Amino acid sequence: MKVGKQSFRTIWPDPRCKFVHIIDQTQLPFAFKTLQIHSTEQMAHAIKTMQVRGAPLIGAAAAYGMALAMLEDESDEYLLSATEMLKNSRPTAVNLAWAVNRMLAVLKVAPHNRRNFTAWREAAEIAQEDVTQNQRIGQHGLGLIKSHYQDKTFNILTHCNAGWLATVDYGTALSPIYAAHDAGLNVHVWVDETRPRNQGAALTAWELGQHGVPHTVITDNAGGHLMQQGLVDMVIVGADRVTANGDVCNKIGTYLKALAAFDNQIPFYAAVPSPTIDWEIADYKNIEIEERDSGEVATIQGLTADGSVQTVRLIPEGSKAANPAFDVTPARLITGIITEKGVFSPAELVKLTLKSD
Ligand code: MRU
Repeated sequence: MKVGKQSFRTIWPDPRCKFVHIIDQTQLPFAFKTLQIHSTEQMAHAIKTMQVRGAPLIGAAAAYGMALAMLEDESDEYLLSATEMLKNSRPTAVNLAWAVNRMLAVLKVAPHNRRNFTAWREAAEIAQEDVTQNQRIGQHGLGLIKSHYQDKTFNILTHCNAGWLATVDYGTALSPIYAAHDAGLNVHVWVDETRPRNQGAALTAWELGQHGVPHTVITDNAGGHLMQQGLVDMVIVGADRVTANGDVCNKIGTYLKALAAFDNQIPFYAAVPSPTIDWEIADYKNIEIEERDSGEVATIQGLTADGSVQTVRLIPEGSKAANPAFDVTPARLITGIITEKGVFSPAELVKLTLKSD
């Protein structure tokens, strides 16, 4: 996607495969900065602190984290310690464990002196597959939007950031929106601010703005009201993990939007590439929900009048804050799951495994 006139992906290797570039998402929307990541430890830190974030991007970042490990040391011991370090960086998005396991499987059977080469090649493949999958999600989602579209502004509500910043490119939930906008459809996006980290207000609004897609940022509490007023035609969200029976684990607050959409008969879709589907988990209660630092709830970051970015406290000193980062929307509230292989009802999701590209 473009930032100004320049095309960017969210992660890319140095041409000599000595380090990796990322976009530092903690600086957005106030500054666009890239960072160089030189070690597995730095990559795990970037994932933990959300310099890179979003399930598909976390997967690609972890794959490159494994490649950085093999650059340092091609031994079995180092391979396993890198695996542990990366897997422990964030628990909820299944793409992370999926990418690390895939790297591990390939590297275990590679000759030791070829592990570095093999790792960079596999990480690049994982990243490229994500781009292709998301582009296809865009096309399948575009078909859906067209099937509901009438000759007036089509309002889509989204939660958190599931745009190109959350992936290697194109995005998941935003990919159909970009495709619709590029096809000349009159789409407008209601962007949930998504407290506490404000991925909607900071990231989704920023990237939609870069692409020229009309959008309006709303408080997380406004969606239900807008739906009652007939101002939402469709909800599209991303996901961090989808269970085999179609339950959708996504950023905290998604469940409430799904309840409101259900009550107002508004189609509610989750857009996910297949590595986000966890075929091993049938019961969502087995998903580990990341509990993040309470400081993310107690404080907020913003741009002050003098142009500096500052963090201020929101709650009384001494009050406790809790910060569960994800919730689960049960399959019964979900109209469909948009994947690179087509759109499936939750009950039919398993058919995805039988479908070739
Ligand atoms: O905690 P984050 O910002 O890494 O959250 C993940 C997400 O970006 C969202 O939950 C998103 O909707 C799914 S990832 C495309």
